[in-house]
Amino acid sequence: MGGCFPCTGEPKTDDKDPPDLPTADKSKSNLSLDVKKETLMNDKKELSSSGSGCIAAQTFTFRELAAATKNFRADCLLGEGGFGRVYKGRLESSNQIVAIKQLDRNGLQGNREFLVEVLMLSLLHHPNLVSLIGYCADGDQRLLVYEYMPLGSLEDHLHDLSPDKKRLDWNTRMKIAAGAAKGLEYLHDKASPPVIYRDLKCSNILLDEGYHPKLSDFGLAKLGPVGDNTHVSTRVMGTYGYCAPEYAMTGQLTLKSDIYSFGVVLLELITGRRAIDNSRAAGEHNLVAWARPLFKDRRKFSQVADPVLQGQYPPRGLYQALAVAAMCVQEQPAMRPLIADVVTALTYLASQTFNPDNQLSQSTSRLATPGTPPRTRRDIERKSGY
Ligand SMILES: Nc1ncnc2c1ncn2[C@@H]1O[C@H](COP(=O)(O)OP(=O)(O)OP(=O)(O)O)[C@@H](O)[C@H]1O
Ligand SMILES: [Mg+2]
Repeated sequence: MGGCFPCTGEPKTDDKDPPDLPTADKSKSNLSLDVKKETLMNDKKELSSSGSGCIAAQTFTFRELAAATKNFRADCLLGEGGFGRVYKGRLESSNQIVAIKQLDRNGLQGNREFLVEVLMLSLLHHPNLVSLIGYCADGDQRLLVYEYMPLGSLEDHLHDLSPDKKRLDWNTRMKIAAGAAKGLEYLHDKASPPVIYRDLKCSNILLDEGYHPKLSDFGLAKLGPVGDNTHVSTRVMGTYGYCAPEYAMTGQLTLKSDIYSFGVVLLELITGRRAIDNSRAAGEHNLVAWARPLFKDRRKFSQVADPVLQGQYPPRGLYQALAVAAMCVQEQPAMRPLIADVVTALTYLASQTFNPDNQLSQSTSRLATPGTPPRTRRDIERKSGY
């Protein structure tokens, strides 16, 4: 759920203007964006891309989406966030199961931004991003139709555990971390211009069959009213606990702000703790503040691991994952790694399948401390002596 806060007073100017739309591939960056925006404003026909062939969002009538969700019945409700409610539905035309987000009409900037956002989401395609199937802009209704993610959000599996839910094991956690990093790498390094996610957090990492992670809401961060209405600048500014300190203080948003948020998510995966948890003892409310001193003391590593894991994790893998998290949440943005380096390190960690039966053969005794975080997988291995 939301939990958003205003990090600074004024909304950034780029929030007042629709963004230049990214293309999925730098070689296709000649897409005629202004023409597309105008086309969208004047014409709500099915979106189609003349040049890149990668836009495939469908339009739906409100009636179709109402039918799909049994009139937005409460038992179809999947969740509610800062933009509105999300329902599970079945499209009558295709029988496809989908997730339908009904945007809060009071919180929208207007037609133009909504459609530009739809176009942006339509242009970005990656196995670790949730796909937008289509949208509805009937009258003043604004709905987005996404592929349905059957396992819900990472938040549900890490923090909102119901008794019937399987606890995430170490291997699954590393797989989720690596996949989420790949989604972010696509937004940062493959999309042109790069897309700053702004709202990376556990509730925005959705899980497909087999716990395959996909980032969601990567275009919505720019939706919402502007100007005097504080609600929007609030929404745009990210989520408490995940927001990089320089962004919180100055409003300066860079790709490195996303890296910080990613580090917080990785810490949540390792520790099982929430980014902010006011029910914990004093000094433990903020996950990063609690974890920082522990990065420097290898005798305390076992205290960092999620107790739910019951010791079933590779000590070396725990150390290395912590080293990556420590790099990502550094105060100085310039010291944080590039997402490509994070992907390299986490893909390696995810490939090291942990077998609890072999656990006794592993030892923490050779671990160095991750006080000064290494920058690449090779550095991690060199630094830790592996
Ligand atoms: N495509 C989807 N498939 C399945 N469940 C989804 C999908 N999209 C969203 N949900 C569910 O709906 C919930 C609410 O999502 P939503 O994005 O509106 O809010 P949020 O992520 O909790 O907060 P925020 O608005 O800050 O992103 C999610 O936590 C998730 O459980
Ligand atoms: Mg969300």
